[in-house]
Amino acid sequence: MIHAENLTKVYRIADKDPGVAGAVKHLFRPRSKSKTAVKDVNFTIEPGEIVGYIGVNGAGKSTTIKMLTGILLPTAGQVRVLGRDPHRQRVANARDIGVVFGQRSQLWWDLALIESLTMVGRIYEVPDAHFKRLIDEFSETLELKELLRVPIRNMSLGQKMRAELAATLIHEPQIVYLDEPTIGLDLLVKERIRAFIKRVNEERGTTVILTTHDLGDIEELCKRVLIIDDGVLIYDGPLETIKQRFGKYREITFETAADLNGLLVPDGAELLTQSERRLALRFDRTLTSASRVSAAVMGQIEVVDLSLKEPDLSMVVKQIYQGGLKVVA
Ligand SMILES: Nc1ncnc2c1ncn2[C@@H]1O[C@H](COP(=O)(O)OP(=O)(O)OP(=O)(O)O)[C@@H](O)[C@H]1O
Ligand SMILES: [Mg+2]
Repeated sequence: MIHAENLTKVYRIADKDPGVAGAVKHLFRPRSKSKTAVKDVNFTIEPGEIVGYIGVNGAGKSTTIKMLTGILLPTAGQVRVLGRDPHRQRVANARDIGVVFGQRSQLWWDLALIESLTMVGRIYEVPDAHFKRLIDEFSETLELKELLRVPIRNMSLGQKMRAELAATLIHEPQIVYLDEPTIGLDLLVKERIRAFIKRVNEERGTTVILTTHDLGDIEELCKRVLIIDDGVLIYDGPLETIKQRFGKYREITFETAADLNGLLVPDGAELLTQSERRLALRFDRTLTSASRVSAAVMGQIEVVDLSLKEPDLSMVVKQIYQGGLKVVA
């Protein structure tokens, strides 16, 4: 359904000295730097998959999505979406895809939601009766009933995102690209959006590519993940493998009443950082437990506070490097 081969994007950035002098100089002698945002990325996505595309800020996720959707032309390599070149055959491609950029709205700011949806429906030539059925369905699954008459401008972030999803799916695309659809939303709205995505995938067989920083989104929706780091694909495989391999580590941080001198790191744990009255340890859950590690520390020094952290994305990425996980073929 989606096939990327040696996909590469190099941005050119003007390299100007600051101030007017710099601008004038640049006019006569333009210099530019280049930034490789995506480098030799290969993957294939099958119909009906929900794939998580993850990586830290600036890793190259949005750039990849923009090449897959045809917004950006790759510098090298190629993309095929349903057998087409998404950039050259943009119009044909547009019928089969839907895109949500969590940071940007595609709806008309001053129009009531129902008017926006009607416009989108007309653009994609959705038959009237079918359009009505879809509006009814989305009103229920996305809880939009009360919002249909409200202009987008007056909506909260979570309401806007639900409206955005409805607009993206009104022409029932075969593929949807969701670039951070849950960014900035509270847990309840996140849950609702995840449930909606899951349902669209199950009932309509829609293929979903999801970029997110929220590992909760990934855990609830994706069996397969791709991890990109500094433009390079460093993992393509089951989420389960990552969880088994890296889910076993936990971080625990202690604040102590007195300065930490000569503290012995408990068995099964390793030191991450240490300052005067603060200590961060990492331990392997299969070797020891949070209570044993904290008891060992408390036996040595008075602890005023402690916190336990679940592994987050940057930790996983770091560990993939350190652990040399066998990645992309
Ligand atoms: N239009 C542009 N011109 C020049 N450089 C760009 C442009 N867009 C992105 N970049 C650079 O390319 C790299 C990848 O950016 P991209 O937006 O793809 O990252 P991302 O993984 O989506 O990050 P985030 O999680 O912050 O959204 C970054 O270093 C960014 O600064
Ligand atoms: Mg991005």
